[in-house]
Amino acid sequence: MRPSLAERWADHLPQLAGVPIVTLGEGSTPLLAAPRLSERLGLELWLKWEGSNPTGSFKDRGMTVAVSRARADGASGVVCASTGNTAASAAAYAARAGIQATIVVAKGAAASSKLAQVLAVGARVVEVPGTFSDAYDASLELAEREGWVVVNSTNDHRIAGQMTAAFEIVEELGGLPDVLTLPYGGGGNTKAYARGFVEIAGGLPRLHPAQAERRADTAASAIRIVEPIHRPEVEEAMARSGGSVVTVSEDEIAGAWRAVRLEEGVFCEPASAAGIAALLRGVASPGERVVCVLTGHGLKDPAAVERAAA
Ligand code: F0G
Repeated sequence: MRPSLAERWADHLPQLAGVPIVTLGEGSTPLLAAPRLSERLGLELWLKWEGSNPTGSFKDRGMTVAVSRARADGASGVVCASTGNTAASAAAYAARAGIQATIVVAKGAAASSKLAQVLAVGARVVEVPGTFSDAYDASLELAEREGWVVVNSTNDHRIAGQMTAAFEIVEELGGLPDVLTLPYGGGGNTKAYARGFVEIAGGLPRLHPAQAERRADTAASAIRIVEPIHRPEVEEAMARSGGSVVTVSEDEIAGAWRAVRLEEGVFCEPASAAGIAALLRGVASPGERVVCVLTGHGLKDPAAVERAAA
């Protein structure tokens, strides 16, 4: 049987020592070669396929740690604000743990399939007017009032779990890649990879997180976050790694999403293609070994395919 993420990386997750693990079989995701895009871009490109996690996104890595810990600490419930993927993950792990989950979303902002994932496992959805930040403020108020644990990426157990993706990459490649690209929403995942690479390999690849130029209303709804809460740590990781934040247009995201689907057969959600957009911009040099993190599954937002085809 495949070990759970917590079992595989127990030495790096001291917060889970002696804690019963809430798992759905997360982690150990494929690192896929990308022969056509590699040839087109002159790179050795690998795709870290996080859409293959149990609820279809990388969020499951952090959620197994945060929810295991919350249950062990006696929490009666968990709460988060989300553009949809954190929501689906928190809801599933809470159901698995036998505790209540409440999800706060900005009205109309989350893809309907992600809300279906939440409702399917019995979590409660609260819609608030405004943006992700308004949803986040509301989730903090609920946590305070009800005594629930917040499982957004401000919960450091989430970051600890997400570091394991960096561990897997280093193990599989036998060392650090030259470059890592990934989407940049709130910045929690960039922070987690930076921490993970330093912990497992003592150094960093050049990090190029890619953010939507139109943060407030990008079609890549998963990264529709105006104020990234982890911006200071992302900037610090840029300085340490020699990388840079890449700002990509709606057309660049759409083109990258199309390329990874049509040229490699990998159906991720639109936001997940932001890292590919950074590569199409030329952030990596010929011959470099590059890992691009594809953060979520395309089935999360089937309507996006219809819009793209229209
Ligand atoms: N990719 C996907 C598919 C996401 O869902 C998110 C964030 C990101 C990338 C960005 O990661 O915020 O750590 O920089 N989704 C959050 C959510 C905001 O609520 O599901 P980040």
